[in-house]
Amino acid sequence: MEWTTEMRYRRIEDVSHETLETIKKKVNSCQWRQNYHIQPETGLLNDPNGFSFFNGEYHLFYQWFPLGPVHGLKYWYHTKSKDLVHWENVGIAIKPDQDYDSHGAYSGSAIEHKDELYLMYTGNTRNELWERHPYQVIAVMNKQGEIKKLQSPVIPEVPKGYTDHFRDPKVWKSGDLFYAVIGAQRENNTGCSVLFQSMNLTDWTLLGEMKTEYEDFGYMWECPDYFDLDGKGVFVFSPQGLKPKGDHYQNIYQSGYLIGQKLDLDTLSFSHGDFHELDRGFDFYAPQTTLSPDGRRLLVGWMGLPEIEYPTDQHDWAHCLTLPRELKVKDGRLLQQPAQELTKLRKDKSVLEATITNETMKAFNGIAYELIFEITDNNATVFGIEFRAKDDEKTVLKYDANTKKIVLDRSMSGDPVGESFGTSRQCSVEGTKMKFHLFVDTSSVEIFVNDGEEVFTSRIFPRSDSDEIRFFANGGSVTFIAEKWDI
Ligand code: FRU
Repeated sequence: MEWTTEMRYRRIEDVSHETLETIKKKVNSCQWRQNYHIQPETGLLNDPNGFSFFNGEYHLFYQWFPLGPVHGLKYWYHTKSKDLVHWENVGIAIKPDQDYDSHGAYSGSAIEHKDELYLMYTGNTRNELWERHPYQVIAVMNKQGEIKKLQSPVIPEVPKGYTDHFRDPKVWKSGDLFYAVIGAQRENNTGCSVLFQSMNLTDWTLLGEMKTEYEDFGYMWECPDYFDLDGKGVFVFSPQGLKPKGDHYQNIYQSGYLIGQKLDLDTLSFSHGDFHELDRGFDFYAPQTTLSPDGRRLLVGWMGLPEIEYPTDQHDWAHCLTLPRELKVKDGRLLQQPAQELTKLRKDKSVLEATITNETMKAFNGIAYELIFEITDNNATVFGIEFRAKDDEKTVLKYDANTKKIVLDRSMSGDPVGESFGTSRQCSVEGTKMKFHLFVDTSSVEIFVNDGEEVFTSRIFPRSDSDEIRFFANGGSVTFIAEKWDI
C-alpha cells in the first residue's frame, strides 16, 4: 500500500472506533508480537522520549504514529513502571495539536522541577511550501498525570548558522541551572549539537555549539544526550551520514558516544576520545538515558531504524524499545549491562555444562528467554550458538578464532529485513574471556558480550515453531556452561 502524505497526516482522533479496532485485530494476529518488550498497540514506534523517574515511578514515552507502520504525524505515547520491568500503557501524552507542533510532537526529554515533570520536545511544523520550522516547546505533567502545554515555544527560533534540522532537546541540571543540548545541522550540512541554559526551564539563553573534535562527522546529529558518569563526561548522539568503515557504521544510521573530561559549561569545550558505536547489531538507534533514584545511569534505545521495511509492516505495526541497560565507564569505554531488575522476569531455569567436539548439540528450547553462557576450555576454530532454530532456519552467534571476531548472522533467521545493508554484523574482541548474555524475545535478540563490552541488538522474524537452542564447535572442542530462564 502506498502511504500518501494525506494518510500519513491523518489524526487518530479523526478515525472511527471500528477502524482502530480493525487495525488492532490485524496487529494482534501477528506472529511476531513481543512478549516482554515495549511495543506499540498499533502503528509505528520510534525514539524513546522523556525517560525519567518521577513521583515514585519510571516514565518512558515514545514517538508514535498510531495509524500504520510508517513515519507520519508523531504523538508521544506514555508508558510507566514501578520496577523498570513491567510497563503499563498509559495512553497518548502529547498530541500534535498546536500551531507550534502541527506536523509532529518530535523527540525530547523530561526533567523534574517544582514537583512537576517538564517534557521538553521539538514541535515540528511545515508551511504551505512544505518548509520545516522546528520549535522547542514544553508540556508539564503534574503528579496526577495531567499534561498541559505551555502556550508559546520556549525556543522559537533556530539560531543563525543552522538549518531547520534542529531538534531533540535533552535537558539536565547542573548546580542551580538547567542545560539543554539540541541536535543540529550546520548550514554547511555537517552535524553538531547546540547548548542552551536556563534558570527556570522556560527562559532559555543560547550558549553556542558544543566544541568537539568531530567537526565533519555526518550531516546531522539526532537525539543528543550529555551526562557525567564515573567522573567522566559522556556525550551520546546519533549521527546520520557516516560511511561504512571496516566492521563499523554498517547500519543506515549510527548511535554512539564520546567519553572525556566533563563538559566545560563555560567554554563549551568537550575534550574526549574517539567515537564508539553503542551497539554492533542491526537494529538500534536514538537512545536516551536517565538516572535511577539510586544513581544508576540507565539507557533505552529504539530497536529499529528509519527508512527500512520490516516484516511486521504487513500487520500494521513496527518496532519496539530495547530493554533498559545500566551504563558504566571502564577504560575509556561504556559498558552496558541489562538493568538488574530484569532478573524479575526469570521463570523456569535450566542449566547445562557440556564439552562438544566438531558437532552441533541441541541444548534447550525456547522463544522468549534469558540465556547466559560462558566458555571455559576452547581450542575450536569456530564455536557458537544457533537459536530460534528449526531445520535450516536459525540465528547464529559465533566466535571465529582465526579472525578473533564475534559474528551475528541473521541470513537464515526467517523473514528477511534490511538485506541491502548485509546479513551479518561482527566485531573484534580482546582477551580470552568469553561470556554471552542473551535476551531473546518473539522477534528480537539483545546480546551482551563479556559483561557489556559489546552489545548486538537485532530484530529477527523466525517462524513460531523455530525454538531450538543448539551449541556447536568446529575444528576442535569447547566447553560451555549455560544457564537459561524462560521469560
Ligand atoms: C530520530 C528522529 C528524531 C526526531 C524523531 C521524529 O529517529 O528523526 O530526530 O525528533 O525521530 O519522529
